[in-house]
Amino acid sequence: MQDIIIYGAGGLGREILFLIENINTQKPEWNFLGFVDDGKPVGAPIGMKKIIGGGSWLASIDKPVAVVMGFADSGAKASLYDKLSLNKNIFFPVIKHPTALIASSSVLSEGVVVSAFCIVAPDAKIKQGVFLNWYSSVGHDSVLGDFCSVMPSVNLSGGVTVGDRTLIGVGAKIHQNLKIGSDAVVGMGSIVLSNVPDRCTVLGNPAIIIKKG
Ligand SMILES: CC(C)(COP(=O)(O)OP(=O)(O)OC[C@H]1O[C@@H](n2cnc3c(N)ncnc32)[C@H](O)[C@@H]1OP(=O)(O)O)[C@@H](O)C(=O)NCCC(=O)NCCS
Repeated sequence: MQDIIIYGAGGLGREILFLIENINTQKPEWNFLGFVDDGKPVGAPIGMKKIIGGGSWLASIDKPVAVVMGFADSGAKASLYDKLSLNKNIFFPVIKHPTALIASSSVLSEGVVVSAFCIVAPDAKIKQGVFLNWYSSVGHDSVLGDFCSVMPSVNLSGGVTVGDRTLIGVGAKIHQNLKIGSDAVVGMGSIVLSNVPDRCTVLGNPAIIIKKG
């Protein structure tokens, strides 16, 4: 089994623990060492598990360990990745739940998490550090940029391109062949029918820009 640490002991971090524990029930794969969290003291209990250190401790860890980012803030994921990847002991595995349906022609980069009941269609590309939460689908030929966070039950139609560090809220749906910019936010439940520029927040049905970055 591979040693693994989850960075972030909030709700999403605990959801990732749930995911890896469930993967282990089907095929023992991950040896969970504990959570790293900068906002909680070492030893603090998180359910039945514990905080084992903060970010600085992890950045200088001296044994090989898999790390998964357990939070949705895409910008924070990107900067932590830059810091942690300086330590060659740390690597960012692809984590796939066995109920996910992933086309063999799709490409998943390092650090991608595909939660239970997701679908990744043929020729989709999911770039590094992307988190796909449960029941989400990524259509054929779609691209999700680095460190995007996709919340539960999102549907990207075919040929959608999403830039880097964008957050797509729960239940949003995106029309085929659109371009969603980088550092954008798609609000929960949005129906996106037109392109979304970089750094904009869109919301509603049809989604309109409510904030420009
Ligand atoms: C769109 C979003 C980013 C806006 O956040 P914000 O800029 O902080 O805006 P606010 O929460 O102040 O809301 C602004 C207004 O939009 C409304 N609103 C917020 N989100 C909405 C949504 N998804 N659909 C419809 N209306 C929404 C609020 O009720 C508020 O209305 P009001 O001005 O009449 O009071 C946020 O609401 C959202 O949807 N985030 C994603 C949530 C998510 O998926 N979480 C995942 C948990 S697993």
